[in-house]
Amino acid sequence: MQGLEADIVIHNIGELVTFPEKPLRRPERGNAGIVGNALLAVRRGKIVYAGPEADAPNIRARRRVNARGLLVTPGLVDPHTHPVFSGDRSRELLLKLEGRSYREILESGGGIYYTVEMTRGAGDEELAHGMEEALILMLEHGTTSVEAKTGYGLTVEEELRQLKIILETSKRVPQHVTPTLLAHVIPQEYMDSREEYVELLAAKLIPQAAMRGAEYFDVFCDKGAYTCEETRRLFRAALSAGLKLRLHADEIAYIGCSRLALEFPVHSVDHLENTPPEVVEALSRTRTVATLLPTSMLSVFTSKKPPVEALRRYGVPIALGTDYNPNNMNPNMQSAIDASIYLLRLKPLEALAAATANAAYSLDLHDRGCLAPGCRADIIVWGLERVEQLGYYWGYNRALLVLSEGAPVAGDMLEAAL
Ligand code: NIG
Ligand code: FE
Repeated sequence: MQGLEADIVIHNIGELVTFPEKPLRRPERGNAGIVGNALLAVRRGKIVYAGPEADAPNIRARRRVNARGLLVTPGLVDPHTHPVFSGDRSRELLLKLEGRSYREILESGGGIYYTVEMTRGAGDEELAHGMEEALILMLEHGTTSVEAKTGYGLTVEEELRQLKIILETSKRVPQHVTPTLLAHVIPQEYMDSREEYVELLAAKLIPQAAMRGAEYFDVFCDKGAYTCEETRRLFRAALSAGLKLRLHADEIAYIGCSRLALEFPVHSVDHLENTPPEVVEALSRTRTVATLLPTSMLSVFTSKKPPVEALRRYGVPIALGTDYNPNNMNPNMQSAIDASIYLLRLKPLEALAAATANAAYSLDLHDRGCLAPGCRADIIVWGLERVEQLGYYWGYNRALLVLSEGAPVAGDMLEAAL
């Protein structure tokens, strides 16, 4: 092989996970592109070589990092977060511990409604600062791409302000941020005229958000939030405005929401704690990804679990997200991986594919969640030797070195990599 130029080479990799194909419907060692004794070369933010060290071409590298025989994987992709908000809901944790449900708290004007009140009253600087701090925590734990939703404004002006904050904060963090407009709940002012608010979203907010840079549109479709019929109306408006679709479905109860992915091109249906197995079979004939949010299950204190066995059986790709929001203040995708293993019985490799390749696929980020030539060089060197050790070692930050677009940005190994 001819010589290669590289900005950075990571050598002495014990186990490299490349995920050359996505989505992974049934991730296992045979389809994950796992290479032992491997080397990675990066040039201008992209992978130019990923394979056995012994087969590597001659590489002239400006920097070399010794991975000390450890595990190296793509950076984590968080496909579901709500990072623009103000206020603290720790009081609600106590209420939930005393037995009040998430829905009771919401319907008595707490929950999302409390956060909306606090967020409307907060300045741009405060909101941007809160989002930036959360994204830096995410980065330190290996998250290199993040989806971010609006949803705590509930007026045209406030939702557009939150979108602007997402877009502006994106420029200040190393991660790639995918902006989503979220129809969260009906504002209290419109409780007796829901239709009017839905029309306002369809006619005004959705087209304006599309013009100002939103990429996805998402609806919290559930008991106590939007109905299926309202969601249909909003989805039609979003598609004609050129937005792509995501959906919060079946978290609190099953009212048919996940079935909307059979009628509309929905990139991801999220939560699914109450989804019946028959729906999963039908979903397997669509392009949708099932995004599971196991740390959010803990914060909602739900006893229901998403239908993991059916998702596997019918080959619906599983993604994982944090659902970072003021009800679930956990920005760490490693916790989502750990919780998916202990609560949902995902295998470590399934959890890793869900937190990288499949999450990226759900966001149309085709050069993320993979480490094959051409993929963006978002990389984690873990303090672990093999994928199977993910989840076995848990509860602390296991990312030793994080690279974003080829640049070392976080971790205890950072000094050695600079
Ligand atoms: O994804 N389910 C809807 N929205 C969020 C919760 C938002 C909140 O409680 O503030 C979720 O869980
Ligand atoms: Fe959510």
